[in-house]
Amino acid sequence: METSKEMFRQVEDHYLFDDIDLEKEIALPYGTPTYVFSAKKIRENILTLKQAFQKTYPNTSIAYSLKNNDIPEICSVIASEIDIFEITSLTELKFVEKLVLNQKKNLNLILTNIYKSDSLIDNTIHFPRNSNTSDYNDHLNLIAIDSYQDLKNVERIAKKVGKKPRVSIRVNPGIKMDISETIFASANISAKCASIIADIEPIIEVSNDPTISIWLPKRETTPKNDFAEKLVQDAIESKHLELVGLHGHLGSQIANIEYFDRFFEVISRFYKLMNEKYDGILEILDLGGGYPVDYTNSGGVPTIEDIAKVLTKNIQNANIKPDLIIESGRYITASSGILLSKVCLTKENSEGKKLAVLDLSVYSDLLDVLVANWCYDAILMNNLPKQIDKNKGSCWTLVGGTNDTLDQLTPRSSKCSKCDDSLKGENERWFPKELKTGDLLAIKHAGAYTTCFNSNYSGRPIPTRILITEDQTNRVQLL
Ligand SMILES: Cc1ncc(COP(=O)(O)O)c(C=O)c1O
Repeated sequence: METSKEMFRQVEDHYLFDDIDLEKEIALPYGTPTYVFSAKKIRENILTLKQAFQKTYPNTSIAYSLKNNDIPEICSVIASEIDIFEITSLTELKFVEKLVLNQKKNLNLILTNIYKSDSLIDNTIHFPRNSNTSDYNDHLNLIAIDSYQDLKNVERIAKKVGKKPRVSIRVNPGIKMDISETIFASANISAKCASIIADIEPIIEVSNDPTISIWLPKRETTPKNDFAEKLVQDAIESKHLELVGLHGHLGSQIANIEYFDRFFEVISRFYKLMNEKYDGILEILDLGGGYPVDYTNSGGVPTIEDIAKVLTKNIQNANIKPDLIIESGRYITASSGILLSKVCLTKENSEGKKLAVLDLSVYSDLLDVLVANWCYDAILMNNLPKQIDKNKGSCWTLVGGTNDTLDQLTPRSSKCSKCDDSLKGENERWFPKELKTGDLLAIKHAGAYTTCFNSNYSGRPIPTRILITEDQTNRVQLL
């Protein structure tokens, strides 16, 4: 199978993505800024997840977390490989309903949001109401209960409609995570989602990790109702709910394998404890998302294979045999998308720094730069010098085309993937030549948590979207 490096590649003086010439076949005819997605790459990423997790634990299902990218044509590709969609809103549910009709395939839902409106709960309980399949089965869908009030809301709607939804309890393991580093942490003690595991002593007792107590900070208080043990008991005792599993979510773009290790251990041990207490009632362990993308090609994130091994180790140590679910978003779509952008103006500031103004804005086109100080790789694709000399070239600050100070592609990583120079605290990038108007840049790994934030901020148009299809007669599809 082709690797991502080969899929985005330089051939002489031009760049190809999935064998399409990005300048000649996309930028020239369609203009910039343009997101370019590869259907093949989406499939490849899903296959990587399936192979890695199913190799070490065959009973693993991969779900797609819809919020990161909900472009219909992209989701159709995903729906041809994946049967479960993780959703958070009624709009997303209706979107999946349409996918079911278009794909002529039954899809299952996992509803996870911190707040679920009555109609969202009602529609999830009845999904797929409008399905064209005769094989209707509303028991395939799962509602992840986040809090006590959420449980009461789901219970109230279930009673009203007279159907017993399958539910899981979303558990917060409350592990120690450096939230300044792990910006999207969701399993630390102060997280807003899920309900904390209150009693960690039984987990510490059975763990064979001598450092486990360091990873599980003391709980200062136990909430009155919002803790995992109580929600499990309440769900079991409810006449209107069918408790089938536990749900956990470590966060997004988790780059530290230690976090995965501890998260998997704590949630597996808790699953075991609950199953011992309640006669094996649990059968599903949903481990959420967070599987990371190597944005800077520096190898600084754990591989999916490493994460899968750590997961299997912890499942075996806890001696449990659940049906596992992985809910991935970022890993499936990020590397399947590139944002093509053009230098529209160059200028110098009073410190002698050279600024290249791009025809994008991070506010609307690459929001993670702002909310997570994300570093996207930017590759010069045209007007390349005949020979690339590492000692020549020049450093540029890439800025978005609005007046806002924060509208800059500031790198987050400490190393520049091309020149090995430390970039921390700086915002310059090395290019093999002086940048000038008309130069074309490829912002890599721009497929996740980007298009879903597109807006007309500052009166800017939404970037064009293109899918490179697998149809050899019609490879470039305007979305
Ligand atoms: C409950 C849940 N599952 C899955 C995901 C997907 O995470 P990622 O895109 O990092 O794989 C998210 C996103 O934050 C989430 O909140």
